[in-house]
Amino acid sequence: MNNDRIMPRWIPLVGGVLGSTTCGALLYAWSVFIKPLNAEFGWSRADIALAFAIACLIFGLMTYPAGRLSDKYSPRIVVLIGGIILCCGFVMSGFIHTKLQLYLTYGVVAGFGGGLVYLPPIATAPKWWPDRRALATGFAVVGLGLGSFIMAPLATYIIANYGWRMVFISVGIAMGVMAVIAALCLKVPPAGWKPKGWEPPKSANPEHREYRDYTYAETIRTPQFWLLYTAYFCGSFAGLMVIGHIAGHGIDRGLDPMVAAGAASWLAIANATTRILSGLIADRIGIKISFVTFFALQVIAMALLYPSGHLYWALWSVAALIGWNYGAMFTLFPATCLQYYGATAQATNYGLLFTSWGFAGFLGPFVGGWLKDSTGTYSAPFLVGAAVVCISVLIIALTKPPARKHV
Ligand code: 2OP
Repeated sequence: MNNDRIMPRWIPLVGGVLGSTTCGALLYAWSVFIKPLNAEFGWSRADIALAFAIACLIFGLMTYPAGRLSDKYSPRIVVLIGGIILCCGFVMSGFIHTKLQLYLTYGVVAGFGGGLVYLPPIATAPKWWPDRRALATGFAVVGLGLGSFIMAPLATYIIANYGWRMVFISVGIAMGVMAVIAALCLKVPPAGWKPKGWEPPKSANPEHREYRDYTYAETIRTPQFWLLYTAYFCGSFAGLMVIGHIAGHGIDRGLDPMVAAGAASWLAIANATTRILSGLIADRIGIKISFVTFFALQVIAMALLYPSGHLYWALWSVAALIGWNYGAMFTLFPATCLQYYGATAQATNYGLLFTSWGFAGFLGPFVGGWLKDSTGTYSAPFLVGAAVVCISVLIIALTKPPARKHV
């Protein structure tokens, strides 16, 4: 079928941007709540950080069922249900009085809904863009950068004027509305659909044989899948271990706190822009070469982080580079999974692959804090981060795509 009138294919991209923006607001602006929660309840940083760790774990683990249900039923229904749960969890966090209530409402309920919202657009948008798959994937994750961007100043304003509870309530409702619109934008194209005037490149099928996509059961039996899983875990673990400590490191090395916080802003800008730009680059020069380059740059950036801490421009530049390479993973891993195994079971395949991020999100910040506390210096988490990303570089450089499946 070759019919653009089924649905303009930019609509699933809008769904991806809206869905991922709600997830960005959920996850990446958490630090704005630390001070007000500490002031009201006296909870320690570690207590408050545990809510974020639980949210990451549940968010990451939910992407697997989200993918399966999306492949089996429809991405729309999964995002719709996820958006309602996310909204309820976030709004309920505005009424908490105990840590346990915070862990349950923000960590478990909102994290659960967020995982359901996050995954389906990543698998659906590229199905409409076989000619620009990495770019379409980028649109489906760009909001993780945008959401934190919008949320951090917005939440700071609401906290100053109406209190932290109002952030959870008002932003939670806005998230619910955005997720419902995102759900309405998502639909799987009919089998055999391709954009008008586009044919798959001949070089993709040199033997002129008919190929089929991998099933989920076949995918998880390939060693490549588990190599990707390990590379994803290592890249995310290192990123999440380091990112939360960059501003603290600058302050430790004598920078003014506002100047050191600028590093986090540059990191966020790069983390958002890379999601689209790395997709554009990968569609042009190839996914693997882009991936190896970004991971290799990440090793260098993490190794340079400690010595750059006392110069604001160096810290900002290295932080931006780390944000760029970290954010690129969320475009390039789904694009690689799609390239290896095809689009048919992408939601389930990538849903399972992404659970590695959930484990990394639970462990990374904790191990980073522990390394800093036990050695007394940030150089330990930064150097361990660089070493861990080396594993990802090697895996991505050495892994070959699995053999194509003949019909
Ligand atoms: C991302 O940034 C959720 O960390 C994941 O896309």
